[in-house]
Amino acid sequence: MSSPSPTAPGVCQGDFRFRCIACGHLSDQASQDFRCAHCKDLLEITYPNWQETKSDPAKLKAGWRYRKLSAKPVDQSGVWRFRDLLPRIDSDLDAITLREGNTPLYELPRCARTTGIPRLFAKHQGMNPTGSFKDAGMTVAATFARRAGFRWVACASTGNTSASMAAYAARGGLRSLVLVPEGKISWSKLSQALDYGAVTCQLRTDFDGCLRLLQQLVLRAPVYQLNSINPFRLEGQKTLAIELLEQLDWNPPDHIIVPGGNLGNSSAIGKALVEMRDLGLISKMPRLSVIQAEGANALVRTLREAAGRRLVSVAAETRATAIRIGNPASWKKAAHVLEATSGACEQVSEMEIAQAKAEIGAEGIGCEPASAVTLAGLKKLIQQGFVKQDETVVLVLTGNLLKDPDFTIDFHRGDMFKGGAGAGISPEVDALRHPPLVLDATLDAVIRTLEQAEKS
Ligand code: F0G
Repeated sequence: MSSPSPTAPGVCQGDFRFRCIACGHLSDQASQDFRCAHCKDLLEITYPNWQETKSDPAKLKAGWRYRKLSAKPVDQSGVWRFRDLLPRIDSDLDAITLREGNTPLYELPRCARTTGIPRLFAKHQGMNPTGSFKDAGMTVAATFARRAGFRWVACASTGNTSASMAAYAARGGLRSLVLVPEGKISWSKLSQALDYGAVTCQLRTDFDGCLRLLQQLVLRAPVYQLNSINPFRLEGQKTLAIELLEQLDWNPPDHIIVPGGNLGNSSAIGKALVEMRDLGLISKMPRLSVIQAEGANALVRTLREAAGRRLVSVAAETRATAIRIGNPASWKKAAHVLEATSGACEQVSEMEIAQAKAEIGAEGIGCEPASAVTLAGLKKLIQQGFVKQDETVVLVLTGNLLKDPDFTIDFHRGDMFKGGAGAGISPEVDALRHPPLVLDATLDAVIRTLEQAEKS
């Protein structure tokens, strides 16, 4: 690797500064590991001049609507369209964009009936260019990596970050290095990183081990880290919430429910909600709730066992591999936004995840297992009385079904839970399975199958 010549990872252009989330220290530059120079905690991006420069919410909303008519790539991006609330770039041409964002908000009529929540929506971030919500953050962070003069970008990943980073690096003329846990991520996600030209290392460890190694690497080599520790990622991911509010005509939902892994996304959505409230873009704060898999429940335990004061790490295990994370980097940010929005934190079992994923699938909407924790979690929050029937609820679906087809196939074929086809699952869950049928290639066989299906 040639000798490093890049400038600091983030150079302040006058419209934003880095602030430590623990000691509040403000700085114009961040070190390679994006940690506070004083106390080593995480940084966030803050905009000191907003109160004077962004004081007209109607003007901001009108400007964002107007950009929808533009043919400029930066306006067609569902992230950069909201660039008034992002770190400033000098020229529109600087943005590395795949026209990310612009994701649909779907009604879920069947799930609305079964949960008893008539106003139930899914914001499907799996409809992004590389099939996950990561693209919204990656477009911003990759852009700032290139501006800072880096040639290499790197990440540790459970799969989606690496797919997204590799794509944006390729578009931006950057090289990319991926660290993933060997055997613990889906082939679909790995195949994306390979195709987009990343140097892909399958390390004999878990995600948390990959991230630890990356944090050391960035202090030794001139690579720019694109994990969600990087606060530019979270700025981009904020736009999910801005676009959602625009789609709801600026009427805030009562609840937004999001899966929790490394906890960057919940932190970003929460930051967006606080900023939108402070700028007068919304008049009411939605409650933001985070749902984790039971086997990867570090935030749940941190809040229950340590009152959010220290991280309770876990040895993570779940088939929802995207959120198989035991030592979430952004736990403090997430705990803070849960408090700021009066949200809840829950956990769901593997069976509940599989059932919820199939229920979302039955709506004609494909998501990956990690996304389905939101519906499974909603059911629990209804039981607890935290979500009420007359409230509006938005589930954030973070990834596309095609990201993890093995999970879906194992479920429908009945291979997912111990004991073989269909064993160990309730009749309710079993009814959601649609296994493929192998038939003789005769008209009779197909008609018989059709008749049987009609009766069932
Ligand atoms: N859903 C999906 C589909 C994900 O890929 C991830 C995280 C999450 C939810 C959790 O989001 O970490 O911001 O709390 N995937 C990361 C990755 C860790 O490397 O792709 P989070």
